[in-house]
Amino acid sequence: MKLLNFKQLLPIAQQRGFHAVGSFNLHCLEMLPAYFEAALDTNAPLMIQISTGTAEYLGRELLVSSIQSLTEKHDVPTCLHLDHCSNLDDIKKAIDSGFSSVMYDGSHLPLAENIANTNIILEYARQFDVTVEAELGAIGGAEDGKAVADSDIAFTTVAEATQFVREADVDMLAVSIGTVHGSYTAKTNIQHELLAEIHQAVDKSLVLHGGTGVSDEDMHFVIRHGMDKVNVGTEMNVQWVKHCQDTFSSGKVDDSVRKFFIPARKAVREVIAEKMRLFQ
Ligand code: 13P
Repeated sequence: MKLLNFKQLLPIAQQRGFHAVGSFNLHCLEMLPAYFEAALDTNAPLMIQISTGTAEYLGRELLVSSIQSLTEKHDVPTCLHLDHCSNLDDIKKAIDSGFSSVMYDGSHLPLAENIANTNIILEYARQFDVTVEAELGAIGGAEDGKAVADSDIAFTTVAEATQFVREADVDMLAVSIGTVHGSYTAKTNIQHELLAEIHQAVDKSLVLHGGTGVSDEDMHFVIRHGMDKVNVGTEMNVQWVKHCQDTFSSGKVDDSVRKFFIPARKAVREVIAEKMRLFQ
């Protein structure tokens, strides 16, 4: 089975009883089997997203070939997505190396420039049947090491969202409605009414960023109000580091290094499976 784009993956998720597709950030290659194990545990299709930092660290070719080979081995419908990228050349490189979905993040730019750049990526991506996500509004927290100060958080407005999708025919639109990237400590402050209004006005798949720390109740609300894609990143990282800290600090240097990762892999598998079930 070849990698699927988001528009091909979403109906499979819906047929299998999921209201949204969880899109899970992969932080290192050693974690990868856990993502497929969780998909097999829950019968969910799999969306793996890669930050530009991780893509550079691991190399796009290694990522595409390993994810492609596990997709075939396990027969799991899988989409490989490039998360937040504001560099047009890097997005084109990801598409050229076989990513099936990409995000152009021009949310820091004036609206007209964000739309213009999104259209450049759309034109390129369409040739390869790659889906495109864009972002409007400023989501708080830290993404790939870059922090957005609380004072810079800007909720997406209905008027801007409507104009955006009229002028750039994206497949998915990430909107800022009160979640933050990364943080476990800051409370999310979901703007329920705003989301409901955007959902009514915009006939596109919406994307929730900052899925870590969102309550089950809020998660149920957002997936019933247009959030077809829900990003989860920090939770897997936290579990991985926590378990590795334990095993590395209690292990011996001549123990097989593989053993240090086994509890972390199990914990990541459980976190992802639990989130997938939440979307059912
Ligand atoms: P969290 O790290 O808060 O789960 O957010 C992930 C994300 O939105 C990646 O784009």
